[in-house]
Amino acid sequence: MSVTKDDVLNSLAKIQTPRGVPLSVAKVLSEITASGDKVFFSLTVDAAEARAWEGIRAQAEEAVRAIPGVKTVMVALTAERRPGSGPAPAPAGVKPVASHQHGAGADSPMGKQKAIPGIKAIIAVASGKGGVGKSTTALNLALGFRDLGLKVGLLDADIYGPSVPRLTGIKEMPQLTEDKKMIPLQRFGLPLMSIGFLVAEDTAMVWRGPMIMSAIRQMLWDVAWGELDLLVVDMPPGTGDAQLSLAQQVPLAGAVIVSTPQDLALIDARRGISMFKKVDVPTLGIIENMSYFMCPHCNGRSDIFGHGGARHEAERVGVPFLGEIPLDIAIREGSDAGRPVLETDPTGKHAEVYRAIANKIKSELRLETVVA
Ligand SMILES: Nc1ncnc2c1ncn2[C@@H]1O[C@H](COP(=O)(O)OP(=O)(O)OP(=O)(O)O)[C@@H](O)[C@H]1O
Ligand SMILES: [Mg+2]
Repeated sequence: MSVTKDDVLNSLAKIQTPRGVPLSVAKVLSEITASGDKVFFSLTVDAAEARAWEGIRAQAEEAVRAIPGVKTVMVALTAERRPGSGPAPAPAGVKPVASHQHGAGADSPMGKQKAIPGIKAIIAVASGKGGVGKSTTALNLALGFRDLGLKVGLLDADIYGPSVPRLTGIKEMPQLTEDKKMIPLQRFGLPLMSIGFLVAEDTAMVWRGPMIMSAIRQMLWDVAWGELDLLVVDMPPGTGDAQLSLAQQVPLAGAVIVSTPQDLALIDARRGISMFKKVDVPTLGIIENMSYFMCPHCNGRSDIFGHGGARHEAERVGVPFLGEIPLDIAIREGSDAGRPVLETDPTGKHAEVYRAIANKIKSELRLETVVA
């Protein structure tokens, strides 16, 4: 029997809030997503009240988890600043977008970054433009790092359009540890986490900036990642809240920018690089994806998008050029079927390209493998 919104509201009615009314009527609830045995919603409060509400968030999660039939609950606490309410007093763990300033001074949100225990380095795979192959690249790079002997995990930070479930073929949901952390799902030797494991891929999620931040925060800290040399984060397209949120919350060792060779994509790549620069995240380099076309029939090569643009752009802005990945039907078919090319053809030429890029990034990060 699947849980209904009314079941959730009834359980929230038992929680008293600082506003003197039960949570179910406190006018802080987002739309409640209840599907099967999963429940998702957020509480939006003023930034000044956020600290007082963290306990309510936890109580709400507990109350909903106690409803028979519920297995996974995620309640996000999001803080908003009212227009004209002055600077928000950055409450613990909740950083309103509106108060973000650039730079890493002690008073800026960047100064509140917290490393995730057990994780040595975190990198973001990003692009200004959508659909250039970030997710495909992020997964294959993670597998490349694995092949180089690193302990690596993959976090899908694309809240609107998570792709890791499709790329890995995972349909299960994460289990919880005794202290209520989500256990990442394992595939191809990688621990993986995606919002797509919690809600159906086609569930429309109309989330605003602060909610995205909160969801990303939970996917970073409320997950039992274990000991990792590297966490690769697959970013959503663009230069918006998710990127800023990640850079504010964890010390990023760097960003890898994926671009296709066309001018338009390169303009967006440039925008991505400058956004990371503003938040003091170094660009580890640019990858040219769909760099040239390999015909599966004649094995001939053609430069359909004007190959070489990303290398040129990398030289122009003074960041490393990491490599070229061809546009190849094998990459597309494999990733869309949950079978990345590093798994289907681990000794093939594509696998070699991804591993070579992973190796360059590994050297830049100075990550050492511990030889047992
Ligand atoms: N080198 C490649 N050769 C062929 N197809 C590719 C290649 N890289 C990615 N694709 C395909 O392009 C499509 C988009 O890729 P992907 O989902 O990785 O992009 P994205 O940048 O993460 O997109 P979004 O911006 O929506 O997150 C997918 O169908 C994927 O299989
Ligand atoms: Mg993607």
